[in-house]
Amino acid sequence: MEIIKSVNRSLGLSQDNIFRKLFRIINYSLELLLVRLYHKSSSRSGNIVDQFHSLYYCSPEKTWNNTRWMGRRTMRCPLDLWVYQEILYELKPDIVIETGTNEGGGAHFLASIMDVIGKGKVIGVDIEELANRADHERITYIKGSSIDHNIIKKVSEMIESDHVVLVILDSDHNMPHVLEEMKIYSEFVTKGSYMIVEDSNVNGHPVMPNWGLGPFEAIQEFLSKNDLFEVDKSREKFYMSFNPNGYLKRTHRITSAR
Ligand SMILES: C[S@@+](CC[C@H](N)C(=O)[O-])C[C@H]1O[C@@H](n2cnc3c(N)ncnc32)[C@H](O)[C@@H]1O
Repeated sequence: MEIIKSVNRSLGLSQDNIFRKLFRIINYSLELLLVRLYHKSSSRSGNIVDQFHSLYYCSPEKTWNNTRWMGRRTMRCPLDLWVYQEILYELKPDIVIETGTNEGGGAHFLASIMDVIGKGKVIGVDIEELANRADHERITYIKGSSIDHNIIKKVSEMIESDHVVLVILDSDHNMPHVLEEMKIYSEFVTKGSYMIVEDSNVNGHPVMPNWGLGPFEAIQEFLSKNDLFEVDKSREKFYMSFNPNGYLKRTHRITSAR
């Protein structure tokens, strides 16, 4: 049971959709096995960056499932974490909202950079409350689903009108959930700041081609109906990012939104 829960958490799956979840876990395991057996990229791409991305992604026990900040696991690509650091320094946000905190390694990373900058708080939302979660005075954890009305209310009560707000979405990586999160949390993002959508690399962008509609497709759908944000490709400057098209900069402000 613990193993299933752990795989669940690692893949960013919610508690429902048991069949889809099972399919993805089996599919994921098979892909890992194949890559190991044949020592080749799962992306079938001739592009060296995509090949490295696949190699990196398909070796989780060495890479993203074994990346730690101050002893706490964060399932993130270190190249993206460096970009986070640059964004934090540039924006000096008052609030970073992170949906999907897991062990809190990512939230702790943000809090540590904020310590150096001397400003900022992290609001972490997760359906689970892990016993080994990172504690830090700048982090407030809220337990519940990121799209639950009461949770959104709690988050909004922590934000003041003059706050600079950055949003990171890293919870359930199915398209409907991510799209819903994007619609809700985009409202909090201040002009010039970002909504970062994590793990848009799945469903063949370039890894896990059989994942199904995920964050990448949610971003496409969101942008087709929203012109307040644009993709900032300059944040993918280190070639490999787990978040292709996932650094969305808020370029406009409307009077009814923050
Ligand atoms: C990929 S992990 C997050 C990794 C984390 N950000 C880090 O830096 O290591 C995904 C997390 O999303 C959580 N999650 C899944 N569905 C959720 C939902 N509807 N609302 C909030 N969190 C959710 C899971 O419990 C899991 O801890």
